[in-house]
Amino acid sequence: MLNFLALESISSWFPPEASYQAFWMDKAFLGILIAAVFAFVLVVGLAITFVIGNRGKVAIEGQEVNQLARGLWVLGAVLMAYFAFSSNFCGFMDTTQAPYGAYEIDVTARQWDWEFTYPGGHVTDTLHVAIDRPVRLNMQTQDVVHSLLIPALRVNQAIIPGKISRTWFQADMIDTFMLRSSKYSGEQFADMHTAMITHSPAKFTEWLEAAGDIFAGRTLPEVGEILYTRHGCAACHSFDGSKRVGPSFLDMYGNTFNTKEGVEVTVDAAYVRESILTPNVSVIDGFDPVMIPYEGILDDREIEALTEWFKSMSSFADQGEK
Ligand code: HEC
Repeated sequence: MLNFLALESISSWFPPEASYQAFWMDKAFLGILIAAVFAFVLVVGLAITFVIGNRGKVAIEGQEVNQLARGLWVLGAVLMAYFAFSSNFCGFMDTTQAPYGAYEIDVTARQWDWEFTYPGGHVTDTLHVAIDRPVRLNMQTQDVVHSLLIPALRVNQAIIPGKISRTWFQADMIDTFMLRSSKYSGEQFADMHTAMITHSPAKFTEWLEAAGDIFAGRTLPEVGEILYTRHGCAACHSFDGSKRVGPSFLDMYGNTFNTKEGVEVTVDAAYVRESILTPNVSVIDGFDPVMIPYEGILDDREIEALTEWFKSMSSFADQGEK
């Protein structure tokens, strides 16, 4: 319907159309723009014509109203509103529901940065996606209202505190684009921008494998600390000596504890391994057997990293080595 105005011409005022939705969004913009300009010209044009045409005339009491003109006027307004509405109704419906099987990325917005978590648990501060594949963003804010805006994809979704706000897109251009917040969120709002990097599907898998390897460029204790947060150990274990649901990891390695059965155990690598994989086999006295087994969740290398981390914060570490 709008092809008489070449759509390419509009892209010169806009960022590149880098997603499947962008075309529809621009079409809607154009539709509403045409309806608004038409209404403006009509109303202002008629007003000027009447002012000039009726100059000097006096209003006549009880003058007949032209019912046909009134009817046409109402019909015209309704048609124009319909034109603006219908120009992107399908596109709007499409953006509300992500296709089945979309790639899910969790987004955390806070004053004043972004965090993206991929399905494998890898976290970045720039958004990486593959082209030609629907991506769904599950977004949460840690403080105030933010809004995720990626102009090139025509994505703009408010993130409301206390709920998960969702949006989706399918990028179709390989490049680096701007991603920012479009809702004012306080003093350093201007810093709330980062990059969205699109890759070919093969390159994306490669990137994810390389970036998702938490061992790359980190020491074992550093990896251990990341695993501690990532796998929710923090809910039950502290590492500052304070007691939570479970014992603290501070000074645990190499230390000696009594189990519920009254057996004395010294925490060494084998005991850590057993405690993580089958925690309820021997339960430390004073605690309940509530820890879930991490069998199949943490592999040998990860357990080794946790063990090294425990060692690094224990003054009894030498005892555990024996
Ligand atoms: C739901 C709470 C909970 C979570 C989550 C949890 N644990 Fe535990 N953990 C416990 C409790 C309670 C104990 C003490 C009872 C026992 O030995 O089973 C314990 C004991 C341990 C011990 C032995 C401590 C000692 O002093 O001998 C280790 C090691 C351990 N947990 C590691 C982990 C790691 C690593 C994680 C995360 C991957 C984790 N736990 C997650 C509750 C939890």
